[in-house]
Amino acid sequence: MAALKHIVGSVAVITIRNPPVNALSPQVQVSLMEVLKDVTLDPSVKAIVLCGENGKFSGGADIRTFSKTDPKTDIKRMSLDDVNSVAERSRKPVVAAVEGVALGGGLELALACHYRIAHVKARVGLTEVLLGLLPGAGGTQRLPRLIGVPAALDMITTGKIVPAPVAVKLGIVDSVTEGSAVEEAIHLAQKVVGQPLESRRICSKPIQCPPNVDSLLNDAKVKLKKQFRGAESHQVCVEAIRAAVQLPFAEGIVKERELFLSLFNSDQAKACQYAFFAERSVAKWTTPSGANWKSASPQTIRTAAVIGLGTMGQGIAVSLAKAQIQVIAVEQDEQQLEKGSKAVTAILERETLKKQQFELAHKSDSFGSVTFTLDFNALKNADLVIEAVYENMALKKEIFQRLSSICKPGAFLCTNTSGLDIDEIASVTDRPHLVIGTHFFSPAHLMKLLEVVRGYHSSSTIISTVMNLSKVLNKVGVVVDNCPLFVGNRLLLPYINQAVFLLEDGRTPEEVDQVLEEFGYAMGPFRMSDLAGLDIGWRSRMEFGLTGPKLLPGAPVRQREGKRYSPLPDILCEEGRFGQKSGKGWYQYETVGGRNAARDPWVHNFLHEYRRAHAIKQKNVSQGEILEWCLYPLINEGFKVLEDGIASGPEDIDVIYNNGYGWPRHKGGPMFYASMIGLPRVLVKLEEFYKNNPDIPSLKPSNLLKALVKQGSPPLKEWRSQLGYPNSRL
Ligand code: 3HC
Ligand code: NAI
Repeated sequence: MAALKHIVGSVAVITIRNPPVNALSPQVQVSLMEVLKDVTLDPSVKAIVLCGENGKFSGGADIRTFSKTDPKTDIKRMSLDDVNSVAERSRKPVVAAVEGVALGGGLELALACHYRIAHVKARVGLTEVLLGLLPGAGGTQRLPRLIGVPAALDMITTGKIVPAPVAVKLGIVDSVTEGSAVEEAIHLAQKVVGQPLESRRICSKPIQCPPNVDSLLNDAKVKLKKQFRGAESHQVCVEAIRAAVQLPFAEGIVKERELFLSLFNSDQAKACQYAFFAERSVAKWTTPSGANWKSASPQTIRTAAVIGLGTMGQGIAVSLAKAQIQVIAVEQDEQQLEKGSKAVTAILERETLKKQQFELAHKSDSFGSVTFTLDFNALKNADLVIEAVYENMALKKEIFQRLSSICKPGAFLCTNTSGLDIDEIASVTDRPHLVIGTHFFSPAHLMKLLEVVRGYHSSSTIISTVMNLSKVLNKVGVVVDNCPLFVGNRLLLPYINQAVFLLEDGRTPEEVDQVLEEFGYAMGPFRMSDLAGLDIGWRSRMEFGLTGPKLLPGAPVRQREGKRYSPLPDILCEEGRFGQKSGKGWYQYETVGGRNAARDPWVHNFLHEYRRAHAIKQKNVSQGEILEWCLYPLINEGFKVLEDGIASGPEDIDVIYNNGYGWPRHKGGPMFYASMIGLPRVLVKLEEFYKNNPDIPSLKPSNLLKALVKQGSPPLKEWRSQLGYPNSRL
């Protein structure tokens, strides 16, 4: 039985059992229905308590069964909605005891109960939208009736998860307890036996609409369209809430079902659910030596240090402090220290305010303290150090040599380099096995991704410690191998180059960005480069001798070692155009550090003059071709990364792109996207591009892509086995 029953006095306690998160699989639903019907008919039972085994109410419908469900038949036959309806119609009071999580269908089940008691540490939310769906078991009809349209709209369209103290303030749960929610629920159930239930049935509640409800819903759709470009589920969620506003409950439920089914088998839902499982799979890392996530023993980090309080160091320090880790922040001089400490303090103040507002001033754990210093000796007691100084190998080596002599034995030494050789950095220390790359993304206190770059000597302890830390920091860690630019930036390079080549060939930053933004990217390549800072790539190109003082004299302007090269980004930097930080880049900004990108006539004029000076003929490129020209080389590089064994599988690449590079989640990630459009299409286009541009090596189709097409393009989940990792170093 997936739903167990035991009787306490006159109360039947029904426990949902389906480890690990008590997902409401079809079997669980059938079992719940049987037990519910059984206890409603049993005259000795006067009240019912619903709870989940092992301190978790329920993580919602069983996502794993979705791909095996035929929406035309299976969903119509029996659904969670039917279970909810039986619970809600019951003449005996039904109390939900929410512990751990009540998410998606789990919360919908709780909403169908007459009362809800939550443990103070429980979290609730209607998260379906993140899976490309909408709450399909009455959530869109009950939540607005319970907490009002604006609050329900916010929760349902964002998939926000709220802690129990917030849930009680919003009115989602009746009360919270620091003790056992089940005991409390039994107590309440006994107390309310015989009391009228009609007012407790959410389905009977009239919906409280603000007078401007139509414009509220319409405005929400416009905002969501901008925030989640091209994603359907957010829009459809609003329509389901509109049904709650306009229709009686029963008709609203029918409409909700219809809308749910319209999303259920969509490509976007498949992509989002793939992304969900991909994130879980990357946590299960393994190395060739047999060490893996299960056998390694992560160390707890209590005190961490950050070296360099520039763009990245500031965000990293905040991220650590938010996770209640004590932080020591080190800078090189008074001026930089003051600048950095002001910035960190300001971000922390903003974060504290956000946290207090979100938790409605309920008591919560405070942040870890941050100590600012110029004294490297302050690092001697740190458990882990993250270096975030300029991207310069000589400087990084000097710092690691110092760390080696100052830090306690066993302290972990991490570098935030965005692409330098981890092994070279580790080689100057007394503990290469305790050195690793922790590649955060900007802004580091907000971005979810942590690329964990394993050096040749990195021990399983440091890998597991940093992967564990990523969870503590509320980030998604992905273990990758050490190679120039690692995985994320290695794929980014051909994408950005291709976009810049389009400018040489006659397109504008606005045109290119628009195509990529319509595809679903939060920002096109040029707006993104301006945000990240054009100087970062410039410094790295100088370091590699592609421009600047190390460039060999006589190198042709638009070629490096026989390959096509565009000096456009270098010229922009030489002009002091670093992007948002200098108020101008590919666009112009209202002020230094401004966020609003506006067309810059200087850039247009400069591009025009550049094309004229180099006698470049304008090419006519369609929007579709701009997309393929930019994305396919990125995907191609993904296949090369797999071939080289730098990432463990396509899921790793996709998780990196979804969480660190603004890839639209409803398209799953670049590798998933390639599998959806069809590998033969990608191959044919790359072959065509390469034939016409033999001086761009990133267009040359990878051997793996060719092999997979030859094998009949097997589904993505089979690529790992097809690959066999002949060269894998992971
Ligand atoms: N269905 C199936 N499996 C699920 C699941 C679900 N709803 N939720 C979690 N799991 C699995 C995970 O895949 C993982 O399995 P694995 O170990 O084999 O990889 C295991 O449970 C543990 O999950 P996590 O590693 O994520 O554990 P955490 O403790 O970090 O997080 C959680 C637990 C908060 C429940 C998180 O897993 C989560 O957010 N789950 C999804 C919740 C959700 O979106 N539910 C809505 C489902 S759709 C729905 O309900 C439709 C309805 O409206 C009709
Ligand atoms: P930044 O230029 O903004 O900051 C670097 C900081 O290091 C400066 O505050 C500087 O004073 C300090 N510093 C320099 N030498 C020092 C020393 N000897 N001791 C103490 N502090 C010293 O650089 P940013 O952008 O923060 O980059 C830092 C690192 O992070 C680089 O390796 C970069 O490649 C990487 N990175 C940058 C990303 C970005 O978007 N900016 C993204 C991911 C990684």
